Amino acid sequence: MATVTELLQPVELDLETLVADLRSLIGAEHPILQAAAEHLFSAGGKRLRPGIVLLISRALSTDGSLSPRHRRLAEITEMIHTASLVHDDVVDEASTRRGVATVHSRFNHRVAVLAGDFLFAQASWHLANLDNLDVVKLLSRVIMDLADGEVKQGLYRYDSGQELDTYLEKSYCKTASLIANSAQAAGVLSDQSEDKLKSLNFFGRQLGLAFQVVDDILDFIGDEEQLGKPAASDLASGYLTAPALFALEENASLGILIEREFSVEGDLEEALSIVRSSCAIQRTRILAEKFATESREAIRWLPDSPSRRALLELPDFVLSRLY
Ligand code: IPE
Ligand code: IPE
Ligand code: MG
Ligand code: MG
Ligand code: MG
Repeated sequence: MATVTELLQPVELDLETLVADLRSLIGAEHPILQAAAEHLFSAGGKRLRPGIVLLISRALSTDGSLSPRHRRLAEITEMIHTASLVHDDVVDEASTRRGVATVHSRFNHRVAVLAGDFLFAQASWHLANLDNLDVVKLLSRVIMDLADGEVKQGLYRYDSGQELDTYLEKSYCKTASLIANSAQAAGVLSDQSEDKLKSLNFFGRQLGLAFQVVDDILDFIGDEEQLGKPAASDLASGYLTAPALFALEENASLGILIEREFSVEGDLEEALSIVRSSCAIQRTRILAEKFATESREAIRWLPDSPSRRALLELPDFVLSRLY
């Protein structure tokens, strides 16, 4: 399976430009906030979300060229994503991200809260300056969904009675909304029909769900070095993701450990091993595969091009992170 760099090859140069532009957009008005944002930008990241926006933009372009507004949309998408990560790491009390210290551990909580806000604000400003009300609505909805998802997740901590649908709704808000709405926004900027906009949104939605479900599996089976961020941390924080929810159906004693919030020594280790040794990981994988397939099927109508071929491979790439 291709690496993410190979997959994003049709927009490789565009992504290089994007990184340079992001740096200058952030500006130097507040050196400490710039340092915080720069810290994460220079650590890299897969740049999957702007990659998707750029691939869709190129795939829809009749002469294969890319407009400045499409580029700006890709930048806004990565800014919103990075802002959400800075805040997510505060909420999750995570020590590392992209293989380096998180903003709040490198600087402090105050800087992390402000740096996240600062990035959201910058993103909103540049969004408004695209002068397209439909795009403004799509992307500002994402910022609402992100907050909504984090709040929902907090409300359901240690709640072993929650439904899989609650988890999926939360995952839509936290992760899929950004990919879905930015994919659709790329279509809006390319004057696509309502039907095509819907299918771009669905493509991003199902891909985003697959991505979060895979991320949640990796939290159980990956390690910090491979992930560049802490592993085995969701359950410890009381976040019951798909693997934990499926394991709860198989093993009632997991429920007892969760309900007492792992307060007895050895509880967490036992809970982790129950999830890892159950059929839950396999069942979660099947769920991710379903989302990935639905995602791929949604964009078959795109005209053939290297960008389309890359987009069609993305769902499998997301799954391949598990192997
Ligand atoms: C992390 O996203 C947040 C989730 C939705 C799980 P990525 O894994 O795409 O993060 P970067 O941008 O590559 O660091
Ligand atoms: C995804 O959730 C977070 C956002 C997209 C805000 P996670 O909390 O699982 O993300 P990671 O695992 O820390 O990257
Ligand atoms: Mg996190
Ligand atoms: Mg989180
Ligand atoms: Mg995670």
